[in-house]
Amino acid sequence: MMANLGLTYVRIAEFAWSRLEPTEGQLEFAWLDEIIAILAEHNLQVLIGTPTATPPKWLVDKWPEVLPVDPNTGRTRGFGSRRHYDFSSTIYQRESERITRELAQRYGQNDAVVGWQTDNELGCHDTTLSASDAAHSAFIEWCRKRYETIDALNAAWGNAFWSMEYRSFEEIDLPVGTVTEAHPSHRLAYQRFASGQVIDFNRRQVDIIREHAPGKFVTHNYIPMNETGFDNWELAESLDFASYDNYPLGRSDLHFANASAEAFKPYMRTGHPDFATYYHDQSRGLSLNKAGFWIMEQQPGPVNWAPNNPRPAPGMIRFWTLEAFAHGADCVSYFRWRQAGFAQEQMHAGLLRPDNSRAEAWDQVVQSIAEVEQLGAASEETLAAPIAIVSDAPGQWVTDIDRQSDAYNYNQVQLSYYRALRELGLDVDFISTRADLSAYKLVLVPCLPIVDDAFVARCQNTSATVVFGPRSGSKTEDLSHPANLAPGSLQALLGVKVLSVETLRADCHEPLTWDGREFRSGIWREEIETGDTEVLARYEDGSAAATRSQRFIYLATLTDRDFLKAFFSGLCSQLDIALVDWGKDVRVRRRGKLMFAFNYASESRTLPVDENARFLLGDRQLPPRDVAVWEAPV
Ligand code: GAL
Repeated sequence: MMANLGLTYVRIAEFAWSRLEPTEGQLEFAWLDEIIAILAEHNLQVLIGTPTATPPKWLVDKWPEVLPVDPNTGRTRGFGSRRHYDFSSTIYQRESERITRELAQRYGQNDAVVGWQTDNELGCHDTTLSASDAAHSAFIEWCRKRYETIDALNAAWGNAFWSMEYRSFEEIDLPVGTVTEAHPSHRLAYQRFASGQVIDFNRRQVDIIREHAPGKFVTHNYIPMNETGFDNWELAESLDFASYDNYPLGRSDLHFANASAEAFKPYMRTGHPDFATYYHDQSRGLSLNKAGFWIMEQQPGPVNWAPNNPRPAPGMIRFWTLEAFAHGADCVSYFRWRQAGFAQEQMHAGLLRPDNSRAEAWDQVVQSIAEVEQLGAASEETLAAPIAIVSDAPGQWVTDIDRQSDAYNYNQVQLSYYRALRELGLDVDFISTRADLSAYKLVLVPCLPIVDDAFVARCQNTSATVVFGPRSGSKTEDLSHPANLAPGSLQALLGVKVLSVETLRADCHEPLTWDGREFRSGIWREEIETGDTEVLARYEDGSAAATRSQRFIYLATLTDRDFLKAFFSGLCSQLDIALVDWGKDVRVRRRGKLMFAFNYASESRTLPVDENARFLLGDRQLPPRDVAVWEAPV
């Protein structure tokens, strides 16, 4: 049935440890050999997922210390679902490397097995941090390595405050269970440490796979990048490309939990127009923008895990598939093949129902396969976008730890920049602070509290206009104020100094004036000394809210969607970047010579496409929840 449907790849075994090794040392591969042989016979290419997200019962019972401890409650997380393991457990490291090696040795050279996925959704269910004894001892060693002497650590963190000084590394606890907030530098260190544990865990699997499966690709299926708790860029370094698990309705339901019904309902069955692609563009970024990425799991119908689990609007499975290809995907793989008739995910749709009959997505998958092939979409090159957003894991950690405002949310700030750009019809790349900036005309840095000198130099040595959002440059490496005040080393570019910060309730904004028009300033507001800069926008009292010094712009406050759109659109016209604003809920994206338009609205839209354009799919009149593709000169 898979072959008849026209699938190319099948991912298997990602949770199969209890079948691969029903009891310690008794390895049973016959069933997997047979399945791989059947798939190969039908020309299906196989990906094996290492089963390390689900250690079996015998392993956990024999070595209970492999279980992680919830840092919020101090409770050991038990057996009975998944991800019940501790990244710092040396026993678990040994056992997961052992099962990975067994699989890689057996199937590494098998022609039908073309690629590998490490573990499954690392960090999912809040599992990056653990407060186990193993994590505690490993953290002490991590601190010793990083700071060398306890005096250096005390000084770097500022432990004289509240008498938090240590006499030796052995005295350091994990920053959990404290009466009120734990020390922010301590928490940042714990987060960095935990991120490193995940990255090492993944890298060891990758190394084993590469040793036994030369020439085969290795990927990992990410959850939304803001939820992993580790440094996504660092994890991606060891992979051939990144993959993403795309559940637009489940994610929208969670994300817009507090939105009004009026705002939410139009997207209830489609997902928000910028929500899936926000992660596609980040996945492409993790794959260094050009290497492509995979959707390892695409929602095929109602899922089971969001607070509410609606059915996708008719045609959305095909729509999401083409959308992923437009944003640079090389493969879209549906989760799951057959709906399970049992266990936790029995209410989660598949391509087949539990009785093997075809479910709603089937015909759309048939159509998608034909269209992707007809367009040659997978083979078109993904061009560098003119605009990049700099995304940074420590930036998210710092702003989560050093809160100062309940309404400030790193991901929301980054998403608000992205949405404004996408509403203007702009293609966007996500990059790390280590990326080459030379391809971009406009670089946006929504929030980068910790800045290294190399990044400042890279900004100086490019011709791009660079926009920094508030809180950039506001902290040292160990989360204290920079000696010269915020924005620290960015003062060399921006020419401003932050004198004080206030935060406001999300619904209590105040006016911001820019370009003779009034917008909103809210949530985060900085008082700045402007030096020789040009003041672009002002608060109600006339003081500076945004400044410019040559190519470097500083926004000292969070603003609103209208401001971001107007401001970015003004910058784009100065920089000769073309906009395609074709109205609410229409999104465009280029891949190679193909231009795609997606209509998220419930009414048709007329696209003002050039009259000589050759349409490959659809035409100027774009029905609701439909896609048009035409050729556009590069
Ligand atoms: C993903 C996961 C799958 C399955 C799916 C349900 O998080 O990788 O194993 O649980 O979600 O939507």
